[in-house]
Amino acid sequence: MTMSNNNSESAFSSSFIWGVATSAYQIEGAAAVDGRGPSIWDTFTHTPGKIIDGSTGDVACDHYHKYAEDVDLIASLSVDAYRFSISWSRVQPLGYGAWNEPGFEFYSKLLDKLAEKNIAAHVTLYHWDLPQGLQDQGGWLSRDTPRHFAEYAAEVARRFGNRVATIATHNEPWCTANLGYGNAQFAPGIADTALSIQVSHHLLLSHGWAMQAMRAVNSSAKLGIVLNQWTAMPATDSAQDQAEAEWEYARSVQWFMDPIFKGSYPQKALDRMDMSQFHVADNDMAEIRQPIDFLGVNYYFRSYISTEVPAKKPEGKLGFSDMGWEIYPDGLSDLLLQLNREYTDLPPIYITENGMAVADAIQDGKIDDAARIEYVRLHLKALHDAIAQGVNVQGYFYWSLLDNFEWNSGYAKRFGLVYVDYETQERTLKNSALWYRDFIQNQVAARINPAHFLGQRQPRR
Ligand code: FCB
Repeated sequence: MTMSNNNSESAFSSSFIWGVATSAYQIEGAAAVDGRGPSIWDTFTHTPGKIIDGSTGDVACDHYHKYAEDVDLIASLSVDAYRFSISWSRVQPLGYGAWNEPGFEFYSKLLDKLAEKNIAAHVTLYHWDLPQGLQDQGGWLSRDTPRHFAEYAAEVARRFGNRVATIATHNEPWCTANLGYGNAQFAPGIADTALSIQVSHHLLLSHGWAMQAMRAVNSSAKLGIVLNQWTAMPATDSAQDQAEAEWEYARSVQWFMDPIFKGSYPQKALDRMDMSQFHVADNDMAEIRQPIDFLGVNYYFRSYISTEVPAKKPEGKLGFSDMGWEIYPDGLSDLLLQLNREYTDLPPIYITENGMAVADAIQDGKIDDAARIEYVRLHLKALHDAIAQGVNVQGYFYWSLLDNFEWNSGYAKRFGLVYVDYETQERTLKNSALWYRDFIQNQVAARINPAHFLGQRQPRR
């Protein structure tokens, strides 16, 4: 039974957008096709020992060749919108200099196909795949990279700005900085906390410069950024746990939100950070603080903070995902309410990612992923609660459309609504995909006829 059948409170507004999300390196494959240059993820995955199953994104879901079939799949889910990212080195092989027309042609064909199916395109410019050509010149430690990023952003806005609904500058800059430069789990694989702080500043600066460069282009796309966020909950009410939780929230959430919305870094975070490599030029904070049209929030879990040794673990009343992440839907409403209290001028929010890895298996041609369905159902309920309490959320994107290359976990973790057999590239809708489709269709039916809430079945869209 879907939420809309049994609970009239659960109807989302008629303008609410339902979507699915992916990113370029995780699905496209075709790593060296049609002039694409290598990115830091190509370099990283081809370095032995970096990826748990030794895999690469060379082929991934071969979406580059199967995009038309994949858009048909998206359309079969009845969603309104598709969030994907552009591979920078596909459209500009070095990250500076010449554009690669066949690369732009691929995204143009993808946009045509989405338009044909009436699916709105939500584009991300940077989902972690910096052109290796820019890494070779200092990557995100150099102030030239933000400059190149702004040029790339403006070029995408010029070419596609009237064909897409939104353009986000970055996806989860927290990860680029903390996993790419803080603990070396992600490309480029550097472990140096002081450098990671400087990288986060350059990512924010690149966001600010890209916003300005895109605003200078006449386009209808709404512009914003996507941040991964969580509440930080102290494990006990000890003063130490509380202080540590506040610090965690400051260094992870406010660190990216405050510069964008307040034009400064949170003092609480600055107080405890290694500032030895930190350089902020005079006007940087004003450059970063640009009005954004939307905020993308990616939510997977809460942060659970314990200063005890060994640290207290969350009890995981609802269990843990195949990533080992605690399932904690209330964290989504807690987070949204907290953001809404703290930032008075928030633009509309999209939940740009939320989803669950499950060790899925095909049986008799079916994938019974009941745990994923429950995960989504509970998060939508929490989301609805937050909206009912006044948070302006205008859409939800499930991560991910397809099982795909899950970064340093390789292909071992499956997040998709659609199962991918990597040997044959065959796609099969999981039960969660059918559930999501029915849920959306019921929402749409409810928009048309409120009597639907009384339990009457409505025809599908
Ligand atoms: C997010 C990433 C996305 C995917 C999910 C599981 O942090 O943005 O690419 O890996 O996690």
